[in-house]
Amino acid sequence: MRIAVTRRIPEAGLGLLDEVVDVSLWEGVLPPSREELLALAEGADGLLTLLTDRVDGALLDRLPTVRVVSNFAVGFDNIDVPACTARGVAVCITPDVLTETTADFAFALLLAVARQVKESANSVPAGRWQTWEPLGFLGHDVFGATLGIVGMGRIGRAVARRSQGFDMRILYTDRGEQAGEGPEPLAKRVDLDTLLRESDFVSLHVPLTAETRGMIGRREFESMKRSAILINTARGPVVDTEVLADALDSGVIWGAGLDVTDPEPLPATHRLLRLPQVIVTPHVASATEATRARMAELAARNALAVLHGETPPRCVNPEVLEHARG
Ligand code: DGY
Repeated sequence: MRIAVTRRIPEAGLGLLDEVVDVSLWEGVLPPSREELLALAEGADGLLTLLTDRVDGALLDRLPTVRVVSNFAVGFDNIDVPACTARGVAVCITPDVLTETTADFAFALLLAVARQVKESANSVPAGRWQTWEPLGFLGHDVFGATLGIVGMGRIGRAVARRSQGFDMRILYTDRGEQAGEGPEPLAKRVDLDTLLRESDFVSLHVPLTAETRGMIGRREFESMKRSAILINTARGPVVDTEVLADALDSGVIWGAGLDVTDPEPLPATHRLLRLPQVIVTPHVASATEATRARMAELAARNALAVLHGETPPRCVNPEVLEHARG
């Protein structure tokens, strides 16, 4: 059996695969083009993909031996799941193992933007630290502020837990049924308009779907506080990037911490990067050694389980498992 792996991932996953199957590894730093991916995966039984690889029906039609697409990510908006299901291809992801690490990073962005960590730190090597300034780098208090969590799933809850150490009031929206268990005792479920209107910080934790694409646009920014800070560690296209840049530029909101952007990568010349109260990081919220190793191991286990006719730990379309290809 053979699995095509579209980028070098931690040994915890590659090693597992190497023990039992042949591995075709894409060694490039950049993602393979579609033709390169087709050449890499020709005749393979499975694909281990990254969020930068587009998997759709047209690709699978040219790879009829593929039975599993195991994504090295919890998000799977790069994969056309119905197209996979229609072809009997299992789609697997890596939830849970990155929850806490991603929440840490969302909170790191929140603190860094609120307290002007980027601008104040940059001022030191730039030689602008002349004295202690009563009016220099004034930010916003995090403790006691209101945090709006859009999407109270695994990562949203982990962010909520962290915020309790800062005595924050939590508002949240969620698509699911009213959570009887109440994720955090002090969290209040509200509609999006109320959340935007009342929050000092708005942190996005929704998957990218047809419903969430562009969900934070002009109307939403205008209903936020002028002192508000937006944090996005979910997916870039949930926010309208140009409208966000306008909102920041004209003071409609105060700041933003973005680990994801639209497009990715964000061009180095993009005007968002020139705004002092904006921190943009290159989609690294899950990037710790331990978490990336756990993601690699889970992605490998998912793929191997499908190929061995077992139930994979985290499958998005389990209905295909009984009728898997081959
Ligand atoms: C994911 O897993 O979806 C993240 O965006 C990368 O860890």
